[in-house]
Amino acid sequence: MDPWSVDPAQSGRRRLTAPRPGHADLAGAWKFGHADLRDVLERASARETAARVAAGAVCRQLLARCGVRLRSGVLALGGVSLLDGPPTMADLERVDPTSPLTTVAPEREAELVGRIDAAKAAGDTLGGVVGVVAAGVPPGLGSYARWEERLDGQLAQAVMAVPAVKAVALGAGLEVPQGPGSLAHDPIVPGDGGLRRGSNRAGGIEGGVSNGEEVVVRAFMKPISTLRDPLPSVDLASGVPGRAAYERSDVTAVPACAVIVESAVAFVLARALLATFGGSRIDDTLAALEAYRRRLGALGPEAFVVPPR
Ligand SMILES: Cc1cc2nc3c(=O)[nH]c(=O)nc-3n(C[C@H](O)[C@H](O)[C@H](O)COP(=O)(O)O)c2cc1C
Repeated sequence: MDPWSVDPAQSGRRRLTAPRPGHADLAGAWKFGHADLRDVLERASARETAARVAAGAVCRQLLARCGVRLRSGVLALGGVSLLDGPPTMADLERVDPTSPLTTVAPEREAELVGRIDAAKAAGDTLGGVVGVVAAGVPPGLGSYARWEERLDGQLAQAVMAVPAVKAVALGAGLEVPQGPGSLAHDPIVPGDGGLRRGSNRAGGIEGGVSNGEEVVVRAFMKPISTLRDPLPSVDLASGVPGRAAYERSDVTAVPACAVIVESAVAFVLARALLATFGGSRIDDTLAALEAYRRRLGALGPEAFVVPPR
């Protein structure tokens, strides 16, 4: 039976039949045979990420007890880049969480708001880049021997799984392929309280394992898919070419994406930390962490400290 000949109006909801490019509408309808794209749209909505943010908040608390601090912010929006290269914790500490766009350059947000208003007036949408930095991550999380336990792979999976994220970079992963190896890696030098790195191009992970430096993740978000001035599509009920459906939609969601990506990073780091140090109670986890730090001694990374219990 042709599902598009069925009238699902019994539910009383407004039926959607012209799939929106950039959404799961068309592939989802093909996959399940839905006669109403609303069945795809509602389930595919990024509203689902509220649950990931809630879980991330719990993970952040666990991480904080273990001396790990996370910050996030917007690095670029609508083609305006506010930072060259990957962020550091110092960059993200410039983010004012109460500002409208939570960027690393609060003084430029009025200009960006103007761009968003212009895109809205044109019926268009904007994407951007967000950054997350985690400081105090113990060295040794993840695996260099088992591909599915590599910390970089786990982070990439969790961050790419945030809707509309189309690329993920660790440290200077986008920049280093342009230059030689001597400018791609991070020298190891003695410091006051342990070993130090002269730079952090690796973004805190080497060989799939955290190395004690700041873990630095960037996520690249495409512009919102629903356009008030819609792209061409085909009405699946009639077969007639026309325009994609329009549903209430934001012009940009890059600041919200930063919060979600931070939560995804917190979840992965908390899981990797528990996999490494275990413990059914937080004080057991902290005791294992402290014993590990003592074992590393002066050859551990300078930044790695365990907060007092
Ligand atoms: C916080 C957030 C809010 C979003 N809001 C919208 C929205 O209002 N309208 C829309 O069309 N897409 C929105 N999206 C993007 C869609 O969820 C995304 O385009 C869709 O899942 C398809 O992208 P994908 O191919 O990366 O999965 C939002 C994404 C995020 C992360």
